[in-house]
Amino acid sequence: MTVTPNRTAEAKAILHNNDRGGYTVPTADLYPYQWNWDSLFSALGWAVFDIKRAWTEIETLFKAQWPSGMVPHIVFWSDSASYFPGPDVWQTSGIAPATSSGISQPPVAATIVRRLAEIDRLPPRALYEAIDRWHRWWHRARDPEGRGVIAISHPWESGRDNLPDWDAPLSQMEVTATGHYRRRDLDHVDAAMRPHQADYDRYLALIDYGASNGWDDAAVSRHSPFWVADPGVTAVLLRAERDLIWLGEALGFDTAAIERRVDRLESGFEQFWHDKAGTYCSFDLRTGQHAQAGTSASFLAPYAGIDQHTDQLIEELGTWSLACTYLVPSFDPRHGDFEALRYWRGPVWCMVNYMIAVGLQELGAHDWAERLKSDTAALIAANGMPESFDPNTGGPVGGKLFTWTAALWLAWAGGSASDANFSGLTASTDH
Ligand code: GLC
Repeated sequence: MTVTPNRTAEAKAILHNNDRGGYTVPTADLYPYQWNWDSLFSALGWAVFDIKRAWTEIETLFKAQWPSGMVPHIVFWSDSASYFPGPDVWQTSGIAPATSSGISQPPVAATIVRRLAEIDRLPPRALYEAIDRWHRWWHRARDPEGRGVIAISHPWESGRDNLPDWDAPLSQMEVTATGHYRRRDLDHVDAAMRPHQADYDRYLALIDYGASNGWDDAAVSRHSPFWVADPGVTAVLLRAERDLIWLGEALGFDTAAIERRVDRLESGFEQFWHDKAGTYCSFDLRTGQHAQAGTSASFLAPYAGIDQHTDQLIEELGTWSLACTYLVPSFDPRHGDFEALRYWRGPVWCMVNYMIAVGLQELGAHDWAERLKSDTAALIAANGMPESFDPNTGGPVGGKLFTWTAALWLAWAGGSASDANFSGLTASTDH
């Protein structure tokens, strides 16, 4: 007799086991610290059975906010020998209030805080103000020319670390000796699923660059060897700005400045459209060169409330669905650089599916939204909660017992597919 695993109980156990007291690590060993957007997605999962714990997660992250407003992508609350590069490489002490990395990650906070507010209570005013400071930092530090597109200064800032999009910009970098170092990721995960050594050398060189400039935003925007406009971060920020307006109005703040930021991003977004690829692509702000193919982030435009090319995007999603079994692969499954197992070059990430589905649902593409939800549910039902999944076989990829996969099962994919409001925890449509 086969026993059907109780995925909901497993998901809760994963959150508990990854809880380090006030924050949840993405997974033990491979990622033993607090990661920015992982933590926020974990709050969606916690909210299903412990709303207080959900709020704590977010408050802990914001304790690490820099005076500039930046919220770092990793906070090193305690020591661990299982991860590289650690605090000694980032060299942020004296700048950061808590030991942290020197770059950020896609700002999903306002959107998730709005969701918590809808099911519980409004956030403290101080948290609203902290998120507003973070958003202003993105505009000031990562779009200093006011073009309406947000740059990343390191592939890791996109949250989609090893995407083929970054290959061309990284290849322009001159990498002299970055020193001797030992990667720790390969102690935990098969090398076939992780970035190549040449990429790692460049990731490290970019950290050296930031550290040697004291993480000065102006120096980074003017001279960073890597400076690429990313539709993923831009879409996440644009949606977050709209959700911040919702929160601001509910709390009685003047939101006029946020409205202006929304206008700028809305008109800027079209710069990502790449006719030749027929989709939204990142582009190198130093050379003007677009990436050659779409990624899962191309489908985040609806989530950002951008509807100029919806029909084309849905057609594109249909084509992708014929080229793989499970949606949405992180990179175009028809392209030569697609790799089903390697980090961000193919595998499916649940939280990206969730965001894409929310946007499609809001634009009325209910069938596609349901398809993403049922693909995600099928992947987890068959394979548990790894970091990501092979879009062809559905097999587990990367780290195991992963927080955001568990959280999205609880908050979204594990719910009944016939749920009238799509899921217990998707954002409402009224903005
Ligand atoms: C990888 C992912 C990033 C994530 C981190 C922890 O670096 O690319 O998005 O935040 O792992 O899960």
